[in-house]
Amino acid sequence: MDILHSILVAAHLLGMAVIVGTFLVQMRKKSDFAVVPVLIAAIVQLVTGLALVGLAEAGDFDLNYAKIGTKLVIAVIVLAGAIGAFVAQRRGTRVAPWFHVAGGFATINLLVAVFWR
Ligand code: HEM
Repeated sequence: MDILHSILVAAHLLGMAVIVGTFLVQMRKKSDFAVVPVLIAAIVQLVTGLALVGLAEAGDFDLNYAKIGTKLVIAVIVLAGAIGAFVAQRRGTRVAPWFHVAGGFATINLLVAVFWR
């Protein structure tokens, strides 16, 4: 259980780093956003986050469900932004607004994760 928890936390932090890192590096761009890594990482965040919650419940650890619910809603917005960016890039329409939704809300989720105790 311990090793599974560590693997999930590592994947969760890597996913966070990919979305927020890509966003910070590319936020001033007008085109050619790295949309696929952001989309994959947004899925990773949802899957690993929910798996961490499942593991905590199985292990009878205390969970702050208001915080988890808030993070879940924000993570769904991040995924919607990433899907929107992917589709917009395929169609040749504006990617920037979608990319900023994904990156901006992932940054908010990072702050929620760290400051809400
Ligand atoms: C873009 C989406 C997300 C980002 C950027 C994010 C970010 C983070 C960060 C930075 C941490 C480490 C905070 C700390 O331990 O002090 C964390 C931990 C955690 N996150 Fe997320 N998160 C996201 C989505 C989610 C979702 C959707 C869930 C579940 C519904 C979730 C559940 C958790 C849990 C349970 C932990 C605690 C892990 C542990 O130490 O046992 N996260 N998250």
